[in-house]
Amino acid sequence: MSNPASPPAVGVLDQGPAITFPPGFLWGAATAAYQIEGAATEGGRTPSIWDTFSHTEGRTVAGHTGDVACDHYHRMPSDVRLMAELGLKSYRFSVSWSRVQPGGTGAANPEGLDFYRRLVDELLANGIEPWLTLYHWDLPQPLEDAGGWPARDTAARFADYSQLVADALGDRVKYFTTLNEPWCSAFLGYGSGVHAPGRSDGADAVRAGHHLMLGHGLAVQALRASRPQAQLGITLNLYPVTPASDAPADVDAARRIDGLANRFFLDPVLRGSYPADLQADLRKVTDFGHVRDGDLAVVSTPLDVVGINYYSRHVVAAPVEGAEPEAYWRAPSCWPGSEDVRFVTRGVPVTDMDWEIDAPGLVETLERVHRDYTDLPLYITENGSAFVDEVVDGRVDDPDRLAYFDAHLRAAHAAISAGVPLKGYFAWSLMDNFEWAWGYTKRFGMVHVDYDTQVRIPKSSARWYAEVIRRNGLAA
Ligand code: NOJ
Repeated sequence: MSNPASPPAVGVLDQGPAITFPPGFLWGAATAAYQIEGAATEGGRTPSIWDTFSHTEGRTVAGHTGDVACDHYHRMPSDVRLMAELGLKSYRFSVSWSRVQPGGTGAANPEGLDFYRRLVDELLANGIEPWLTLYHWDLPQPLEDAGGWPARDTAARFADYSQLVADALGDRVKYFTTLNEPWCSAFLGYGSGVHAPGRSDGADAVRAGHHLMLGHGLAVQALRASRPQAQLGITLNLYPVTPASDAPADVDAARRIDGLANRFFLDPVLRGSYPADLQADLRKVTDFGHVRDGDLAVVSTPLDVVGINYYSRHVVAAPVEGAEPEAYWRAPSCWPGSEDVRFVTRGVPVTDMDWEIDAPGLVETLERVHRDYTDLPLYITENGSAFVDEVVDGRVDDPDRLAYFDAHLRAAHAAISAGVPLKGYFAWSLMDNFEWAWGYTKRFGMVHVDYDTQVRIPKSSARWYAEVIRRNGLAA
């Protein structure tokens, strides 16, 4: 786009009253290494679990892989120019562990670190604050071969790797997120197996969740010691969980899913304990023997910020006879010990992921974290939607995605008005990319990517978002 300061191309800023965000609100967009970089075998990078998984028949839609993805590894400077044109104040990206420490142990790979050094320099030169996520799901394959996240040692390996990244980039990166959505790593990766590494064992999923949090705590301790100025946090994917009715069995189903989806991570990280009811629910799966004395003190090492990824709400009900098991995150195997809970669809509008659009759920989520868990600054580190897009005459109009952003930004603002210390918002995603098991079939980007030519086209939502950033708010 040539002139981001010009009015948006579509007349869409009319969905509510004008609102202004607090000064300094951090407007950004997010991506992740395996979803955009490509160059899977270049610069000394070795396979991660997502390379292995996506190259295994039947694991991703149409066998799609991240081998090329958005070719961001080669197009980084022009992608940063695009961010600057959109007026982004911050860019959240992740580092590929296998690129900077091939194999997951030992010395750093200078060529891998150099890519991120150049990225960060380019961002800073364009006035864009880098926000670095250390782990966005791509465990080096040799560490999976040694046991993966269900193995305790992986936590220590993650802390070493984090230190290595902070040593190289901590002089110019202020914001570090340890883990992105550990629920997905643990319960989709080791529970239902729809994500890499594709294992399916409830006890392993629970162990993986614990070791992810342990790795997070160890990394925070290491980075705190070596980079005292850094702002350190974790990103959790949180959902309001609502019972389908006020029948006690539905209410109990909601309590159980809330335990696994939200409190499994919130409580250890922000309170230093596992909820007693969750432990009781999981008793038939694990005796929690993997949790050692002192672990929870490490897991709850103080943070500076908390990142929240918000997409939708879970509505759940008690089991009924003969209900068909569902797939993806609704699969019973994602919910060890609570496999019998049913996920209910309410018939409200959904995105192309089939996720219900529920902006009020964002207010609930932010208020809950602030009220029940922490006074720390909160950041929405991801929020966005997949819709089917069409390129017409070189343009992509995406009113549904735009309306989704608009509704959720209004919700974010309502939360701020209610006293939540929300300090920033990152749209997911800067550009269309490899949507994990869905491959390239789901488009979340504000920028359209033609995967044959790698041509980028900012959609109308991108132009609109540029205007939001420019105004620091929404027009009436
Ligand atoms: C959360 C994940 O962090 C991101 O990688 C993914 O693409 C989006 N949600 C959409 O599913």
